[in-house]
Amino acid sequence: MSARPVYLNGEWCDTATAQVSVFDRGYLFGDGVYEVIPAFGGQLFGLEPHMDRLSRSLREIGISEPLARQDWQEIFDRLLEDYAGRDAAIYLQVTRGAPVPRDHAWPDPATAPGVMATVSPIGARSDGARAITLPDQRWGRCDIKSINLLPNTMARQKAVEQGVDEAILVRDGLVIEGSATNLFAVIGGRLVTAPTGPQMLAGITRGLLIDLVRREGLVELDESYITVSALRGADEVFLTSSTKDLWPVLEIDGEPVGQGKGAGRPGPVTRHLDGHFQQLKQSQRRPA
Ligand code: PDD
Repeated sequence: MSARPVYLNGEWCDTATAQVSVFDRGYLFGDGVYEVIPAFGGQLFGLEPHMDRLSRSLREIGISEPLARQDWQEIFDRLLEDYAGRDAAIYLQVTRGAPVPRDHAWPDPATAPGVMATVSPIGARSDGARAITLPDQRWGRCDIKSINLLPNTMARQKAVEQGVDEAILVRDGLVIEGSATNLFAVIGGRLVTAPTGPQMLAGITRGLLIDLVRREGLVELDESYITVSALRGADEVFLTSSTKDLWPVLEIDGEPVGQGKGAGRPGPVTRHLDGHFQQLKQSQRRPA
């Protein structure tokens, strides 16, 4: 992989040379938050809600805003210089700095935070995902986009080891979300997704899709929990994330999603919503 530009604590370097202190609390404790912001055709999509979520995550864990939005914008512009017309994802993270010595207790609030941002291309998404269900073993504040992702990575690794794409996390018999995606199901003609709350991440793609569905009256929407048995009987299931848009789920725990001839294929509601979502992406692009 060729080196990519990195903004790191006020300096510019690249992924081959960037150096982070061994005392950085992100590295020692996972004490930080992050965002993944997509750019389609080289232009940022959903920037404002992503930055609002970053502000909220920082506030929830007691880190002050390290940069003004205009400063972030300048960093993103520079990161995207080589991505004109291409799809890319900005990754940024903010940690509680690198105080010495290591101590679980938080440092003096004047400690400089660790700030990093870089960019990578968004690869092509497969036509459909296969998934397994797994118990949700995460903590009680999954609404914070924390860099503490050990349970998410373990779930995803189990999925990979079983030869599938994503793990659907289940708590007390209720479907919460994927290891790095939100989940929607079409059940009895209605679009259903779990309500936001401390148990899951309020995905930006999820939010943009819900706004679109409501604004254009595309389908009846129900923000309520889906039981695992309802998931197994769903007509359609899809996942959402900033790098995957709407990603149809074709198989869950080895069984095809849906019934009849269309089983195991992207369903009509998913395709319809995806069409509208692609239009939304297009409409937000400034003319070059
Ligand atoms: N993941 N749920 C979880 C647990 C996630 O990690 C993500 C995003 C989502 C979807 O959120 P959004 O629509 O804002 O991307 C839901 C990112 C892409 C990641 O960790 O790489």
